[in-house]
Amino acid sequence: MYADRILTHFNQVFAPHDPGHPLRGQEMNQADILDDAYIAFKDGKILATGCGQVPADLVGPETEVLDRSGHIALPGLIDCHTHLVYGGSREHEFSKKLNGMSYLEILEEGGGILSTLKATRESSFDQLYDKTRDLVETMMIHGVTTIEAKSGYGLNWETEKRQMEVVRKLNETLPADLVSTFMAAHVIPPEYKGREDELIDNIIAMLPDVKAEKLAEFVDVFCEKGVYTAAQSKRLLLAAKDLGFATRIHADEIESIGGSAVAAEVGATSAEHLMMVTDEDIHKMAEAGVIGNLLPGTTFSLIQDTYAPARKMLDAGMAITVTTDCNPGSCPMANLQFAMQLGCLYLRMTPVEVYNAVTINAAYSVRRAETVGSLHTGKKADLTVMKVPNLDFALYHFGTNHVSEVYKEGKLVVKDRQMVDPAAAR
Ligand code: NIG
Ligand code: FE
Repeated sequence: MYADRILTHFNQVFAPHDPGHPLRGQEMNQADILDDAYIAFKDGKILATGCGQVPADLVGPETEVLDRSGHIALPGLIDCHTHLVYGGSREHEFSKKLNGMSYLEILEEGGGILSTLKATRESSFDQLYDKTRDLVETMMIHGVTTIEAKSGYGLNWETEKRQMEVVRKLNETLPADLVSTFMAAHVIPPEYKGREDELIDNIIAMLPDVKAEKLAEFVDVFCEKGVYTAAQSKRLLLAAKDLGFATRIHADEIESIGGSAVAAEVGATSAEHLMMVTDEDIHKMAEAGVIGNLLPGTTFSLIQDTYAPARKMLDAGMAITVTTDCNPGSCPMANLQFAMQLGCLYLRMTPVEVYNAVTINAAYSVRRAETVGSLHTGKKADLTVMKVPNLDFALYHFGTNHVSEVYKEGKLVVKDRQMVDPAAAR
């Protein structure tokens, strides 16, 4: 079969294994690294990959062959944990943070997520859409082709729904795959202090509408001191499971209050953050097959010393990912490459582990591994191309954008750090 397009002579191509489950423990340090490699697309899907000369039977009269020597390629990057859709921003809290006020203290005085809640409620659909589109484009320019996006800055149905509808419209209009998560259980407004169970009841009552209107695939909850307890989080996630949602949980981010154990008990797809996770809970998650979504940009931005214990998780046989947490508060950052670099420097992951974390494992974390996350024949031709000499360079040289091209389903969508006009994309 002839390819539509073949990119040839990559210095290196990162080709993850896909054994049918997320890569766990030592599996995360394995991958095929192809030297002098080609990648062939057909009808928006991967047709073939290999090293050296392109087999003659892939090249027809219409095939476009492009030399990519001096570049590397990897499957389109997947950012599997973001809070993308929000009103306003929080730079007015930056000095407080720099002066030593903690994230939970800022929240307690009515700032933090509560301040974004107000700004989001006051934003129209179009305002949220335009702002989020800019953010998605920034992520794509940095190499991302699939993004998980949470609601959670509305709490009331009207605003939560608006946030999820923005995600749906972006999924339809932009060349990125967006995966929607319903996270109304993100904050407790002061008027509900002491009545958190009532809030959980209200959120559970919204679930059938989220389902009926196909607004989200996942349900998430912020299990944290001063937010939701482990018992409340469990109640919500079990109700979500009963309705057929996949589940996630923000666990052990600032204090360890049992969220990771809840993830294991309810069979959540993933547990997020895990900076303060206990050894016992790591083992519970490993046994239950919960993926650990690690967000080193958040630890960095919260100016904390304790990064998630990635090595312990890998030693225990867990599967982990690395993701941005892109949000207006704890991590105002949309560059997955920077989170990957922090993954090496502060989570002490190897480059191969980090690349697996943001490709095949992130694909499992958003339940898209059948179509993205690796370069196996038949998966979507989503590809991130960087102008660097080798895979290690892209992680070692931090803080700049190495991406030169992004392909989504075989189409060039980013070139020279700019979105390609969809009318011109081919
Ligand atoms: O993952 N921890 C809860 N949610 C986000 C922060 C959201 C915000 O501060 O706006 C997080 O860190
Ligand atoms: Fe988060």
